[in-house]
Amino acid sequence: MEPAVRGFRTGAVLAMLAAVASACQRTPQERLVREFAGSYPAEARPNGTVRMFELLAAPAELALVDGGKLRVWAYNGQVPGPTFRVRLGETVRVNFTNRLPQATTVHWHGVRVPNGMDGVPHVTQGPVEPGESFIYEFTPKDAGTFWFHPHVRSSEQVERGLYGVLVVEDEKPAPYDRDVVWVLDDWLLDETRQIFPEFDTMHDLMHDGRWGNAITVNGRTGVQLGLRPGERIRLRLVDTANGRVFNPDFGALDVKIIAVDGLYLRAAIPYRGFELAPGNRLDLDVTAPAAANGVFSVVDRFYPQMPNPLADIVVDGAPAPEHRFAPPAHARVPAWREALSIPVTKQFRVNARRGGEHGIEWTFNDQAFAGHAHAGPPALSMRRGTFQRLQFTNESFRLHPIHMHGMFFRLLARNGVPVDEPFFRDTVLMHSKETIDVGLVPEDAGRWMMHCHILEHAEAGMMTTLEVTP
Ligand code: C2O
Ligand code: CU
Repeated sequence: MEPAVRGFRTGAVLAMLAAVASACQRTPQERLVREFAGSYPAEARPNGTVRMFELLAAPAELALVDGGKLRVWAYNGQVPGPTFRVRLGETVRVNFTNRLPQATTVHWHGVRVPNGMDGVPHVTQGPVEPGESFIYEFTPKDAGTFWFHPHVRSSEQVERGLYGVLVVEDEKPAPYDRDVVWVLDDWLLDETRQIFPEFDTMHDLMHDGRWGNAITVNGRTGVQLGLRPGERIRLRLVDTANGRVFNPDFGALDVKIIAVDGLYLRAAIPYRGFELAPGNRLDLDVTAPAAANGVFSVVDRFYPQMPNPLADIVVDGAPAPEHRFAPPAHARVPAWREALSIPVTKQFRVNARRGGEHGIEWTFNDQAFAGHAHAGPPALSMRRGTFQRLQFTNESFRLHPIHMHGMFFRLLARNGVPVDEPFFRDTVLMHSKETIDVGLVPEDAGRWMMHCHILEHAEAGMMTTLEVTP
């Protein structure tokens, strides 16, 4: 018996040593993938419930901005378009009809959909021509705040008012008193107070896209949100502007960030400003002071010398019953400290040059996207489940919110200096002359767009495709 027992022990020890040795032998890439495990689900888990929505894109005339009649293009006759709310596990089926004078599609920004539902003309589906319909169907894999918009001539179609919000609630939503969506946008109006009818102008292409002269929250200026003292809400911000970056300042209000681009943080963090670039979402936990009534102005301070009032939060009335609960969080956000020591998978240089149909082209690695119909081979092919470090070098002086479809990434560094953002993103703002590093592990196979979310830059060539192979 003795030797057998000893043999067993020796065997166990040897097995353990072998496991330790193989852990040490893992490549850094493999260790990064292990650290990523469980960050978000690889597969959707449909619970059998199908939520059906109608979505119609058509011209409309609506009281918007300061209340004047504005000729827009609208989803379901409203701007912002509808907010579709579903629970995680439910399947979304959207019967979309195009009554615009142009072809269009619907792209589900930030939602990890099957590639064929991603709404990219010629790449994932045919354009939806005027009078035609298309059924979008998918089961979201992640709970969070997402939005949808056209992916055809988006610098015109989004600017004219085509965008809506998709809220995927947790299976058990946290007990906030209220769940409020603020869609931030701006409009470039002409002297007749209508949408300035020239798009992709040389001026907008040479600068940071089309920045408007009227800023709206949910389509209106002068918005007020009334809260009772002590009321605690979940406030979902979405930047649907073509080019404008917002950095909302909530003053003395108690505000925490709970999610960025749909996904929860490792743990909520106090809000101290955030560069909300076109495409970005931010979910905030906002608590009105229990004792003080008053008005709290929310002001955009992206350019501190040019503040823009966004909305007023008016605290008034009978106090809300106090209830304490931990803000929702997501334990698995990899630190990926090792990521900056492995080689860059691919570098993308960003710059502009003269040429193209608009007079200026924006390029990734000197290539301008020739339009969805001529997308060409992917800029990069990545195997599903592998770690990738991508580096973007902004050789220009302009802003570029880099957005990827079908995947989330973590910002690793700005100008080589490590940053520890405890969250994933699908869009990150790259500043003038800046270099950024991002890390990601793609989980969803398909052909995905990567582009600048300044829509004029995207239309003028700053767009490419990334392929994720199974
Ligand atoms: Cu809002 Cu191609 O994305
Ligand atoms: Cu850009």
